Parts: sequence; C-alpha cells; structure tokens
Amino acid sequence: MNIYLVGFMGTGKSSVGKELAKKKKWQFIDLDELIELQDRRNISDIFAKDGEPYFRKIEKKLLLKVSKEVNFVVACGGGIVLDKDNIKIMKESGMMICLSATADEILKRTAASIHRPLLQVANPEKQIAHLLKMRAPYYAEAEKAIDTTNLSVKEVVNKLLKITAKINPSTLPNYSRKAQD
Ligand code: S3P
Repeated sequence: MNIYLVGFMGTGKSSVGKELAKKKKWQFIDLDELIELQDRRNISDIFAKDGEPYFRKIEKKLLLKVSKEVNFVVACGGGIVLDKDNIKIMKESGMMICLSATADEILKRTAASIHRPLLQVANPEKQIAHLLKMRAPYYAEAEKAIDTTNLSVKEVVNKLLKITAKINPSTLPNYSRKAQD
C-alpha cells in the first residue's frame, strides 16, 4: 500500500513526502513532477496551452499507474481530490493523509512561486480563500489530517511516522488495508 499526501498548495506535501520516504525507506514520487516528465512541459505550460481539464486527465492516469505500485510515498497536486475516482483510487490502494495550513501561511509559502497557474491571479489572497472554502469537503475525505502551519518539516514527518507506523511494507499490488485490519 502507498501513502498519499494530499492538501492545498504550499502545505508541504513534497518536502515532507521526500523526508518521510527516506525515513521509511520507501520510494518517493511527486505526481506533479511525473506529469511534467511525461508531458515534457511544465505545469504552467500545460494549463496555458491545453487547460486544466487536460491536466486533470493526465493527473488521473498517472495516479492510477502509481496506485499499482507498493510502498510509495506520493505527494499529490492540490487539486487531485476534486475527482471522486481519485479519492477512491487512493483509499483503495493506500492511506490518504491531508496536510493543511492557514490561508495566511499558504499565501506566505506560495508567494514566490511562479509554477502554480491557479495562483497566478491579480489577487492570490482572495483566490486562496475561495479555493480553500470550495475544497474543504474534498480534503475532509482524508483519513488523517495534520495542520502544518506552525510545524517544521521534521515535526510533520515525525507525526506522519507515528500515524503510518502500523502500515507494514506490502508485497502485493493493490494490497488492501481491510485485509490487514
Ligand atoms: C494544483 C496544485 C499544484 C499542481 C497544479 C494544480 C491545484 O500542485 O498540481 O498547479 O489544483 O491545487 P501543488 O499542490 O503541489 O502545488
């Protein structure tokens, strides 16, 4: 089974995911990076030339591919939860954990980024508030949540290690958590 880190942009999924994978001696994959590699374009270009629905299609296809693997820590893009099928895929093949942060903290952490097309707007503060509100029920689908606002990467990783301690390395693809319980 895999560990899927979901949550809004700037909540630390990639930096935390990388460290968590190192500690657990699991593989790490950043789904956004995988999309860029597969499409040979960066996310901003994909959004600009082909639009968000096209991006979501590749995102879903690659999530499905990764879900066949085992013992992967997967850092997901912030919008992955918008598709019900994606939530089902994650829950069936692993544990979905949500990282969160306050709107102010997200604004601070994402301010310098030019690689997030959804935040390249005149008023990112308003956009963050709007998207957070709209996405709250989707993020609430996660089995566990960690507020990373006042935590270092190391502190979040330690919490995740505790949460995921009971997950044994799996040997079979599509390892079912129910079977383990
Ligand atoms: C998105 C988040 C981004 C990336 C894309 C869309 C979103 O990933 O997938 O720009 O819809 O929230 P990060 O959450 O890793 O920034």
